[in-house]
Amino acid sequence: MASITASVYTSHVPAIGAAVDLGKTAEPYWQPVFRGYDFSRQWMKDHTPDVIFLVYNDHATAFSLDMIPTFAIGTAAEFQPADEGWGPRPVPKVIGHPELASHIAQSVIQDDFDLTIVNKMDVDHGLTVPLSLMCGQPEAWPCPVIPFAVNVVQYPVPSGRRCFELGKAIGRAVASFDRPLKVQIWGTGGMSHQLQGPRAGLINKAFDNMFLDRLIADPAGLAQVPHIDYVREAGSEGIELVMWLIARGAMADAAGGAKPHVAHRFYHVPASNTAVGHLILESGS
Ligand code: DHB
Ligand code: FE
Repeated sequence: MASITASVYTSHVPAIGAAVDLGKTAEPYWQPVFRGYDFSRQWMKDHTPDVIFLVYNDHATAFSLDMIPTFAIGTAAEFQPADEGWGPRPVPKVIGHPELASHIAQSVIQDDFDLTIVNKMDVDHGLTVPLSLMCGQPEAWPCPVIPFAVNVVQYPVPSGRRCFELGKAIGRAVASFDRPLKVQIWGTGGMSHQLQGPRAGLINKAFDNMFLDRLIADPAGLAQVPHIDYVREAGSEGIELVMWLIARGAMADAAGGAKPHVAHRFYHVPASNTAVGHLILESGS
């Protein structure tokens, strides 16, 4: 059977992708950000999974106000990096895993969660920046990736509670896949940031660190935080953090199993107008 071996959480600031692509990672402004991922790139080499289930949000790139799926699973064989206005990022195409993605869609939808099935989609910085942070600049990404897009752009957005419950359903789906695949689940976006209006540039370090603490030790309690608290405390785009609860809900302890352990934790301000947070949790045994 397939199993979830670890969960990874990281911000996906587009300027980080630009810093990688333009060779600026050693510049004084960016060096402290990338140093926080030195451990993670080595860890990825040592713990390369068979598949990454990557929870992210599309930023009006593949979707638009024409069509707003709350939860969308990418079932295609491959996904191209999107053109977000500056040309597509010079990163490898993303190879999907149609068999596992289809199985997860079947299992999760029969488990009462409505997913949109997407057979053709380009992927934006929400998905490619985490891959760059964790994998550097390889010729090809180290394994197939299943994109899982969550609407946190256009209200109404899903609650943290629903995201956590969905994560549990994804955990059950992976555990019932009849092949011995090692699967990582990643939650991306956040941490505190507000990109617009009079509060643009808002950073709330206390909230971000509380979120990291509770994500580790009290995810079920954290899942009760209402969406308005994210917006007030972490800024309008801080709502992206609910996606981390999907990855956390898929870990064994959410269903009464072994607690994960913290392999790595990192927090840094600033990157662009935002805070960067990062966590790696390895499944317990
Ligand atoms: C920015 C955009 C994002 O999607 C994000 O998650 C963080 C920062 C930005 O434009 O700076
Ligand atoms: Fe974002």
